[in-house]
Amino acid sequence: MKILMVASEAVPYAKTGGLADVAGVLPKFLKQLGHDVRVVIPLYGSIDQWKYPLEHVPGALGVWMGALGELWCEVRESRLPGSDVPIYFIEYDRFFARKALYNEPNGQGYMDNDNRFVFLSRAALQLCKKLNFSPDVVHCNDWHTAAIPIFLNTVYAGDDTLGHSASLLTIHNMEYQGRYYPGLMDVLDIGWEHFNHLELEWQNQCNLLKGGLYHATLFNAVSHGYAQEIQTPQFGHGLEGVVRDRINALRGVLNGIDYEEWNPAHDKYITAPYDIEDMSGKAVCKHALQEELGLETRQDLPLFGLVARLVDQKGIRLLAEIFEALMQLDLQIALLGSGEAWAQDFFNTMAARYPGKFGCYIGYSNPLAHRIEAGSDFFLMPSVFEPCGLNQLYSLRYGTLPIVHAVGGLNDTVYSFDEYFHSGTGFKYYDQTPDALYNTIGWALSTWYHKPDEIAGLRKRAMEQRFSWQGSAEQYCDIYREAIYLKTGRTNVD
Ligand code: ADP
Ligand code: GLC
Repeated sequence: MKILMVASEAVPYAKTGGLADVAGVLPKFLKQLGHDVRVVIPLYGSIDQWKYPLEHVPGALGVWMGALGELWCEVRESRLPGSDVPIYFIEYDRFFARKALYNEPNGQGYMDNDNRFVFLSRAALQLCKKLNFSPDVVHCNDWHTAAIPIFLNTVYAGDDTLGHSASLLTIHNMEYQGRYYPGLMDVLDIGWEHFNHLELEWQNQCNLLKGGLYHATLFNAVSHGYAQEIQTPQFGHGLEGVVRDRINALRGVLNGIDYEEWNPAHDKYITAPYDIEDMSGKAVCKHALQEELGLETRQDLPLFGLVARLVDQKGIRLLAEIFEALMQLDLQIALLGSGEAWAQDFFNTMAARYPGKFGCYIGYSNPLAHRIEAGSDFFLMPSVFEPCGLNQLYSLRYGTLPIVHAVGGLNDTVYSFDEYFHSGTGFKYYDQTPDALYNTIGWALSTWYHKPDEIAGLRKRAMEQRFSWQGSAEQYCDIYREAIYLKTGRTNVD
């Protein structure tokens, strides 16, 4: 199959969250399955071109942006590291030569995010024409590239290169929808007849994700649990009706993780390697992490880690509510994250108030994320909702027992400790209340202090879990074939 993957971020070039892991890793596995896959992302100002040399694709690319006219951009090319998967970078400085991907330093989204990502979407399609690459399926991700299915069904419907391309839209997060003023229709330039309650109109705004869900040949959520949840008002963020209208086109595919990068036996960022046979290195990692974050260097105290974007989705309000109570218990907490200003201030204040017990680093650091996974005993994920979640998967791999709210991908991937059957891989709670979170941390704590054998058993079972990309890539291929069949009637696709 010829597959075009378009996303707003991809590792190792640009990342704010799990979307980048998916867009940068899944294509390598698709390639291994024998497919011709190519990736497109923007050339952000933050991409280090010394570290990743990019080649010029000769000739400029014209991108029609309706009311904004035709904008001309350049394209750069490279290969995803460790593979021969081509990745193309859309170079248009007015939109992308900024340090941050989506937001101003104060956390506000850039004023022109609508134009930036409509541009990315259309530029990716124009690039196919320029390269004479006729994708069987275009795999789009989240609202940023949700305009692609809309374009494919409208302005490119009769196109020689793209007229037969099916589309798959993956929902990594339904909360972000790309809702803008109706005038965006003039930039899309697909005709105002598409501004209706079934397609792009949503409460008199132009909603790109809604339009994408309507037009995509098929769409999927990044876990089976989340695929169910987005059909409900609680998790659908207003689009649950749109999802239910197209329920037959909805699939669920769990993300995998990169077991090369996240492997405690060969992790270049951690102090000592360890594995299921010999866990002694984990204690060394714990000691080093405690030193790094100014925590008391004690092996007897359980250390709880947390790595997340500090936004409401991640349940940090709940954690903040019980934080001072937690600090009265015999435990330590290590936190890495950046995001909303109140949360950054709150955790900085707590770190000053509880030195030795709570260490935090406000910012972004992939090496420290690895060291927290390796050095912690437990990992906190009290997310309000979690479409898939990667950190609990990393935690399982590192024998760092996840404590999770039973939602979405967290519920699908963590099995709760059962003392009677000596089973489970972590600790789950079901009500998103301060009491439930506090008591579940208490449950983990008492298991730590009173049942060390159970902790050892939990760790072993956790480390044996596998969520490989291989399996997910095969599932995506099945969905691509289905989409191609729906779009073209072709069944002979291998
Ligand atoms: P989301 O995509 O909603 O942020 P995921 O759990 O799917 O949640 O993925 C988050 C990814 O981003 C993980 O790889 C995690 O390690 C990483 N991450 C989040 N915040 C930071 C940070 N401050 N520093 C380093 N890595 C981070
Ligand atoms: C989103 C979700 C997260 C998921 C990631 C990758 O950012 O919040 O749960 O793991 O996308 O699919």
